[in-house]
Amino acid sequence: MNDKNLSNNAIGVMDSGVGGLTVVSELQQLLPNESIIYYGDSANCPYGNRGEDEIVALASGIIDFLEANQVKIVVIACNTMSTIVNKLTQKYDIEIVGIVRPAAAFIAKIKPKKIGVVATVFTTSTKEYDNYIHKYLPETTVYSQGSPSLAALIESGEFDYTKIDAEITKEVDSILKHDSEVSDIVLGCTHYPIVLDQFQKLYPQIRFVNPAHEQALYVKDYLTHYDMLNSGSHSEFTIYTSGEPITYKKIVDKLKLQTPTTITQKIVNN
Ligand code: DGL
Repeated sequence: MNDKNLSNNAIGVMDSGVGGLTVVSELQQLLPNESIIYYGDSANCPYGNRGEDEIVALASGIIDFLEANQVKIVVIACNTMSTIVNKLTQKYDIEIVGIVRPAAAFIAKIKPKKIGVVATVFTTSTKEYDNYIHKYLPETTVYSQGSPSLAALIESGEFDYTKIDAEITKEVDSILKHDSEVSDIVLGCTHYPIVLDQFQKLYPQIRFVNPAHEQALYVKDYLTHYDMLNSGSHSEFTIYTSGEPITYKKIVDKLKLQTPTTITQKIVNN
């Protein structure tokens, strides 16, 4: 859909929890004039240990909510849900943007011979990163590693760095055990850039790729192309979550986002 009448409506951004705020950070820098309605389904997080049908159902609940709030585009700021984006675009007319494809397009530009991907267990099992990267770079070796617990450790907002560092080390070491020459690793879960400093501190020799910027660039190009940018000067940032608003406030401050107008508890999936 490319409806100019919607141009002053908000961009809808969704994740299983606080991770998608890393995409909001990039959107606010690239599109400061745009309103954003964010939904984080923290009560059901992590999605990455669930099955496909469940993830489609949970994602649909959030999209229905964002559509009811008349957003002009839906940004899936979650790699796990993005791996099943085709199942969602089939069901809805509104433009739905995933994060895996823009990330792979960026990787194609840096042309690594070998690349690692750390993500959720579900994302890794779908091989979507491997498949998209191989579309652009058939010769590149992709080492994917799924963590069952890192997203949840970050989602809790407790920042227990003993546990977080141990999990990062376990996942990254298992990639390096396969191939010690890997020098680029994609943070294939939007929660992970919240602790980018930890990844970098533990592995200063590795370049960690945060795909959030590429997804935000794609959104900017899309809205520009279809003449759907906000023409007004007023913008709002509204957060809804099925979890605890206080955790969102903590992450908003950590990522230095614009101050949200409201953070409201709202259940969309039972
Ligand atoms: N933020 C989600 C992602 O990018 C993962 C968190 C979860 O497992 O729910 O994959």
